[in-house]
Amino acid sequence: MPRPPPPAWHLLGFSLFLASVCVSLESAAQGNSAADALNVLLIIVDDLRPSLGCYGDKLVRSPNIDQLASHSILFQNAFAQQAVCAPSRVSFLTGRRPDTTRLYDFNSYWRVHAGNFSTIPQHFKENGYMTMSVGKVFHPGISSNHSDDSPYSWSFAPYHPSSEKYENTKTCRGEDGELHANLLCPVDMADVPEGTLPDKQSTEEAIRLLEKMKTSTSPFFLAVGYHKPHIPFRYPKEFQKLYPLENITLAPDPQVPDGLPRVAYNPWMDIREREDVQALNISVPYGPIPVDFQRKIRQSYFASVSYLDTQVGRLLSALDDLHLVNNTIIAFTSDHGWALGEHGEWAKYSNFDVTTRVPLMFYVPGRTASLPGAGEKLFPYRSPFDPTSELMDSGRHTEDLVELVSLFPTLAGLAGLQVPPRCPIPSFHVELCREGQKLLKYFQLHDSEEDPYFHGNPRDLIAYSQYPRPADSPQWNSDKPNLKDIKIMGYSIRTIDYRYTVWVGFNPGEFLANFSDIHAGELYFVDSDPLQDHNVYNDSQHGELPQSLKP
Ligand SMILES: *[C@@H]1O[C@H](CO)[C@@H](O)[C@H](O)[C@H]1NC(C)=O
Ligand SMILES: *[C@@H]1O[C@H](CO)[C@@H](O)[C@H](O)[C@H]1NC(C)=O
Ligand SMILES: *[C@@H]1O[C@H](CO)[C@@H](O)[C@H](O)[C@H]1NC(C)=O
Ligand SMILES: *[C@@H]1O[C@H](CO)[C@@H](O)[C@H](O)[C@H]1NC(C)=O
Ligand SMILES: *[C@@H]1O[C@H](CO)[C@@H](O)[C@H](O)[C@H]1NC(C)=O
Ligand SMILES: *[C@@H]1O[C@H](CO)[C@@H](O)[C@H](O)[C@H]1NC(C)=O
Ligand SMILES: *[C@@H]1O[C@H](CO)[C@@H](O)[C@H](O)[C@H]1NC(C)=O
Repeated sequence: MPRPPPPAWHLLGFSLFLASVCVSLESAAQGNSAADALNVLLIIVDDLRPSLGCYGDKLVRSPNIDQLASHSILFQNAFAQQAVCAPSRVSFLTGRRPDTTRLYDFNSYWRVHAGNFSTIPQHFKENGYMTMSVGKVFHPGISSNHSDDSPYSWSFAPYHPSSEKYENTKTCRGEDGELHANLLCPVDMADVPEGTLPDKQSTEEAIRLLEKMKTSTSPFFLAVGYHKPHIPFRYPKEFQKLYPLENITLAPDPQVPDGLPRVAYNPWMDIREREDVQALNISVPYGPIPVDFQRKIRQSYFASVSYLDTQVGRLLSALDDLHLVNNTIIAFTSDHGWALGEHGEWAKYSNFDVTTRVPLMFYVPGRTASLPGAGEKLFPYRSPFDPTSELMDSGRHTEDLVELVSLFPTLAGLAGLQVPPRCPIPSFHVELCREGQKLLKYFQLHDSEEDPYFHGNPRDLIAYSQYPRPADSPQWNSDKPNLKDIKIMGYSIRTIDYRYTVWVGFNPGEFLANFSDIHAGELYFVDSDPLQDHNVYNDSQHGELPQSLKP
């Protein structure tokens, strides 16, 4: 197994509080042995919008993720490239945008369909790391060749929790005492098949792997993919108590906005399939859902987030107990967000901030926080049921716009591996290159060829997202059109000041967008309309903007 190269970091104007710890890191780097290389723990959550204490949410209890944030750099404005699982994951795990992976649905494997692109874990594996996958990292199925991209990405077979198979079965006890396949699914742990839940099993497996890594001679890259708060909201019922229904508000903008083009709306078909939602006989495509049920959905989403938080807490506390916190980078993110009634929607599948914006934070030992002293823990487990858990120093934040596609070069750079070179256009024939940015300057890491992206005004930073549609009006497959049915692509840019989207003709055979064929447009200004309810596209001079939509 090849040894990893020494971290190619050089210190640049680090702040005083980091000065002493940086010295020890620098000497560690000079050691140039596998034992000194930094490990990586990448936590990927499914459908998690930044409804977290550390993102300013006053209701949600997430003390363990907040504690991670307090020792991290947190990106306030991080965006996914497409708000649906498989396309987003394949995009950020390969460091390429959906127009390069050519995956907008669930039905192709990029290595045969687009190009033989390297992945983040593959890059670490090829540089001497033990790479391990637990839970949902790649989206399962065709999009990762039914193998989570094994053997290319992983040192051994990925782990999937055995209780995952019950997620969509009748395991939710309804008011009638019978078991149903519901959307709202608070469970009694004594009552569920196998007596456990997938995320709990994943945490246990991840901890078991970390214990094994303690004695490993190679550094590790461990990716842990959590399922909650993805639907159904199947979580231990005690978490419901954190969110009394009378304290749950509706979305601030629960109506479908007047000026929203029909093509931009997605009819959230998947929750309608759950038995409890079906029983409500909700009108397709616009609803609405009765307000008491809206509150219950929000309650269960937030309860799922707190349950997830306890799993993250157990995992990080174990990392700490194993004394791995001083040499492990921790990255935390999600594949995309989820609308909890905003714009009358209850799903991902759109270009709004509420579905494209994701939590993103990086803990880098000695850089974003001082190393723990002897006997000290950075990540003691914190119970969301303990009210004192609310008090938490917020750590360092940046409001700069960043994209998930930048995760690959950033993790490579932070670990001191070769950062993939910028991709040529097109890059289908290039196996290892990056379409995102190296976010190294946020860590005071010197970057020999710093991205021109960062030289200008932060107002010029852009995050790109896109979403396909089969038709101009919402229909049964508007949420998740198959490639052959895509007729329109919504290309969207977000800057610190606005979100601008054009829905243009798209030919799925040629993968060609026609920017002369504009079906609809959206423009929202962040300051005056942060929730994106007042589309001012028609009022604006937008003749020149479409040029900037191509990344
Ligand atoms: C794709 O990349 C993998 C990993 O580098 C390599 O083993 C494989 O041979 C490549 N496949 C093709 C068709 O080039
Ligand atoms: C996908 O999986 C199949 C079945 O295991 C295998 O034969 C094929 O080589 C894999 N594709 C690639 C590109 O590795
Ligand atoms: C619910 O709201 C009330 C009134 O604001 C507050 O006193 C109480 O602490 C809240 N309960 C929870 C669990 O947040
Ligand atoms: C913008 O103009 C188009 C074309 O005239 C029209 O169909 C659409 O309803 C207008 N949108 C808004 C928000 O006024
Ligand atoms: C469902 O709603 C439709 C109208 O929206 C109504 O015609 C139908 O009777 C309802 N079905 C049930 C079972 O309530
Ligand atoms: C991390 O801590 C362990 C145990 O305290 C120690 O053996 C190891 O040398 C430390 N590593 C670094 C990089 O500081
Ligand atoms: C692009 O759209 C314009 C306007 O609808 C149309 O005239 C043109 O033929 C289209 N181009 C292609 C290549 O389809």
